[in-house]
Amino acid sequence: MFPEKKTIVIGNWKMHGSLQSNEIFLEKLLSTLEDLNSADFFCGIALPAIYLFQFSSRLDNAPFFIGAQNVAQWEEPGAFTGEINAMMLAEFDCKFSIVGHSERRKYFGETDKLVAKKASNLLKSGIIPLVCVGEGQQEREKGSAIHFVKNQIDEIASCLGSDLLKKCNFAYEPIWAIGTGNVAKESDIVEMHGAVKELLVQIMGEVPAQNISLLYGGSVNAENVLSIVDQENVDGILVGGASVSMETFGKLLEKLAGRRQ
Ligand code: 13P
Repeated sequence: MFPEKKTIVIGNWKMHGSLQSNEIFLEKLLSTLEDLNSADFFCGIALPAIYLFQFSSRLDNAPFFIGAQNVAQWEEPGAFTGEINAMMLAEFDCKFSIVGHSERRKYFGETDKLVAKKASNLLKSGIIPLVCVGEGQQEREKGSAIHFVKNQIDEIASCLGSDLLKKCNFAYEPIWAIGTGNVAKESDIVEMHGAVKELLVQIMGEVPAQNISLLYGGSVNAENVLSIVDQENVDGILVGGASVSMETFGKLLEKLAGRRQ
């Protein structure tokens, strides 16, 4: 699990990075975390898998975790050209992996069933799944956003079973808020996070449900981060665009540093 009682900040680099710019990022991230009181938050970066080695070789006691953005649906080695399984990720200090990001659902046709299989593979290798859910513009406009997201979680829960679900964490990422600058309204975030927590309590009971972290993602930046993380049932954030450079990510971390829980 992610550490409790800390605000979780996960950067999702998507398809960004280069060997040279990663070095600059790493230097700046390490010095920023040293300067800030990172006891107040927990920082992770979901990297393109090809950069896991570059980061893992520099992690000695570093105060952040690295993760992946995806994992193969197949557990065992096999004839699956281009795929990377959970056992391979684990070898590179990969502590968590995003699964079911809306971009994977959209461009690679990933279903909730597949997302559940991937989460299960990750857990077998000791990697925390960060399961993404979220409605599109249409569902939001129709007023069915909560129904849509609860269905996604229900489907994943029925494939995974509550024992494994207890070991997952979730990110609510409304698709219309991703990369658009249109961050969800605070009241909508509170409503959705409350509904998700309630559903998790129904599925697994109060205590395990409270241990699951629920992050918000979608156009989070240094300007809006505090108004988001201060909302009820928001345990942290999943940051795309603002996480790929330390100019923007550093500012966001500075905002979180020293903030009282
Ligand atoms: P942006 O922060 O760029 O909107 O991306 C959010 C996201 O998809 C993180 O997984």
